[in-house]
Amino acid sequence: MPLLEVEDLRVAYGKIEAVKGISFTVDAGQVVTLIGTNGAGKTTTLRTLSGLLKPLAGKITFDGEVINDMGAHKIVAKGLAHSPEGRRIFPRLTITENLQLGAFLRKDTAGVQRDIDRAYSLFPILGERRSQAAGTLSGGEQQMLAMGRALMSQPKLLMLDEPSMGLSPIMMQKIMETITELKAQGTTILLVEQNAQAALSLADHGHVMEIGTIALSGTGQELMHDESVRKAYLGED
Ligand SMILES: Nc1ncnc2c1ncn2[C@@H]1O[C@H](COP(=O)(O)OP(=O)(O)OP(=O)(O)O)[C@@H](O)[C@H]1O
Ligand SMILES: [Mg+2]
Repeated sequence: MPLLEVEDLRVAYGKIEAVKGISFTVDAGQVVTLIGTNGAGKTTTLRTLSGLLKPLAGKITFDGEVINDMGAHKIVAKGLAHSPEGRRIFPRLTITENLQLGAFLRKDTAGVQRDIDRAYSLFPILGERRSQAAGTLSGGEQQMLAMGRALMSQPKLLMLDEPSMGLSPIMMQKIMETITELKAQGTTILLVEQNAQAALSLADHGHVMEIGTIALSGTGQELMHDESVRKAYLGED
């Protein structure tokens, strides 16, 4: 059984249907990526899986349970974490405080401390600056903090919405290396990216979204070598 199963999901903002019936699965241990142009419905999909938006129709099954009508906190508690688009860290709080907020549902103080240490070993720059306000971090460092914070809920599935957005090539490479490392540690990841090349090169499976639908699916390698994907998303002609 897949860890996440999305069946014929439809999501609308008022009368505008942003997601028009998509289906995909994520197996435990996999990295699955959703790629596609601006406005394709990627963020809408992640926000719906997180319980922040209610689906119009369809069925979302996570870890053996239908979560369509579950509240956002319950979904986090069940093991689905979301590192949102645009990071949304708390700039006035320290880096450590931001990480602690990611663990707000946990009662195991020792375990939380261990996971904070783990975040600092994954991202040493965060450890060095742990007592500083998070707003003083660079964009790439704030992205690391957002990922670290999402990991603090000990997720079974980590959803990342455009972790490379606005980053320099070096920072982007660092983020992609971290995703690879998390995968090697057994974290299951649903990765939304506009950087198709980077996402497909590390994903087991990928889906190309176009105006609310999935236009094409395949393994990361298949999509990377698909001619239409190369033309539309990898800057080739
Ligand atoms: N709060 C909202 N109210 C109305 N329409 C919205 C809202 N949020 C998103 N949309 C619309 O829904 C569609 C899908 O948006 P979404 O943010 O999911 O796209 P995306 O694939 O994440 O795009 P991007 O790559 O630019 O982040 C777009 O047409 C967008 O304008
Ligand atoms: Mg988006």
